[in-house]
Amino acid sequence: MRDMAPDLGQEKIQALDAEAQRIMKLNDRGGYTVPTAGLYPYQWNWDSAFAAFGFARFDPGRAWTELETLMAGQWANGMVPHIQFHRADPGYFPGPEVWGTEGCAGKGPGRVASSGITQPPVAASFAWRVCQRDPVAGEARLKALFPRFLAMHRWFIDTRCESGAVAITHPWESGRDNAPDWDDAMAGFEPDGVGPYTRRDTSHVDARMRPTKADYDRYLWLVQFARKRGWDEAAVAAESPFRVADPTMTFTLMRACRDLRKAARVLGEPEGEITGWIERLEAGAETLWNPETGAHDARDLRTGQHAGSVSNASFLGWWGGLEDRRALPALTRILDAAKYALPSFDPQSPKHDRLRYWRGPVWGVMNMLASTGMAEAGLTAEAARIRADTIALIARHGFAEYFDPQEGTPAGGGAFTWTAAIWLGWASPSAGKE
Ligand code: GLC
Repeated sequence: MRDMAPDLGQEKIQALDAEAQRIMKLNDRGGYTVPTAGLYPYQWNWDSAFAAFGFARFDPGRAWTELETLMAGQWANGMVPHIQFHRADPGYFPGPEVWGTEGCAGKGPGRVASSGITQPPVAASFAWRVCQRDPVAGEARLKALFPRFLAMHRWFIDTRCESGAVAITHPWESGRDNAPDWDDAMAGFEPDGVGPYTRRDTSHVDARMRPTKADYDRYLWLVQFARKRGWDEAAVAAESPFRVADPTMTFTLMRACRDLRKAARVLGEPEGEITGWIERLEAGAETLWNPETGAHDARDLRTGQHAGSVSNASFLGWWGGLEDRRALPALTRILDAAKYALPSFDPQSPKHDRLRYWRGPVWGVMNMLASTGMAEAGLTAEAARIRADTIALIARHGFAEYFDPQEGTPAGGGAFTWTAAIWLGWASPSAGKE
C-alpha cells in the first residue's frame, strides 16, 4: 500500500477548486443539478445529495435548495424516486413515457414526473453534513426536511427490509447499474416481449464503457413489469424475479439513520423509532456477510445465494458504522491489485472489466463514502490511500464520471457534478480547512 498523492501546490489546488465550482454551476438547472449535460439531463436522487455536499463549500443556501428540490419529489408513500424529469429532454432514454408513473406520487400540485424506483438513501447523511458547515442557518432548513427523511427511511424499512438487509427491485436502484452483483439474478429470467427501443446512452459515450444489450433488455423488462403492476410495491415484491439484498442500500441507509438520529437529537425529535431501524439493519448486514469472499456481498433473495462479488460496496460497512474488521484482508488484497483505489469490482475476478462502468472503474463518490467510513473506524492508512488516489485521478484526468483503475484514464461522461462535489467536500486538500 502506498501513499501516492501528488503534491499539488496551492495554485493547482485553487485551480481545481475553481474548476469544480464551475462544473457545479454549469450543471445547475435552477434548484437542482443534472449529473452531466447530455448523458444524464435530469435530476438523479443520490447525485443531488452529493451535489449538496459540494455546494456547501461555497454556497450553503444552494446546497439546501438542492436537497429541498430532491425531497419535494417524494411520493406520498415516502419513496424518493431515482430520477425526476423536471424538463423534457429527448436525449435520454428511458424517459417519463416509459416509466408511466402518473398518479403514483400521490395528489398535490406541482408533482414532477419521475421514475418508479429509488436510489441509495444518502440524502439525510449529506443534509447532516451541510448543516455542520453552518449550524445556525442550517438548523431551520434541516428541521423542515426532517419529516421527509423520516418518511423515506420508514418506507425503506417497511417495504424493502427483508431479514434486515435492504432489497432492490431493479439494478438501477443500487446506483451500481451493471455490477456483477446482479448477474445471477438477471440471468434468472428472460426479457421476453420487451419490444424495440433505441438506447441514447451509447450516442453520448463509447459503448465499451456502458452496460451490454442483454443487460439493457432486462432493465427495460423490469420497468415494464413494475409498471404493469401500477408500481405497487407489494405486488412487485411478491412477483418479480429480481429481488436482491444490496450492500450499498443497506449501509447507506444504516448511516443515514445514524445521521438522522443525530439530527433528531439536535432538533428535539424522538429517536426511538430510528434506533430500532439501526438495530434491524445491523442484524441484516450479517446476512450479507459472505465467509467465502471475506466481505459483505449482495444476496439474491429469490435463491438465498450470495453473488460472490467483492465490489467497492463490500467496503461500505465502516461508513454504515460497523466496527468489525473482518473485511480488512479482502480490502488489502483489492488495494494491492489495482494501481488506483478503489476499483468497483475485484481486479482478480474474470468478471472485472476496467472500463465498463460498475464492473471495474473507480468512482469518486464511492471512494468518498468508503474512505470516510474507514477513517472513522481507525483504518487510517487505507482511508488515506483511497483519498490520495482520488486526488491523483482528478488532478491528472479531470472531473470524469469514473476512471480506469490501472491507467487512470477518464471514462464515461465528463464535467460530472458528483465528482466535482466530492472534490470540494472531501478530496480537495482545501476541504475541511476553513
Ligand atoms: C448511472 C449511475 C448512477 C447515477 C446515474 C447518474 O446510472 O450508475 O449511480 O446515479 O448514472 O449519475
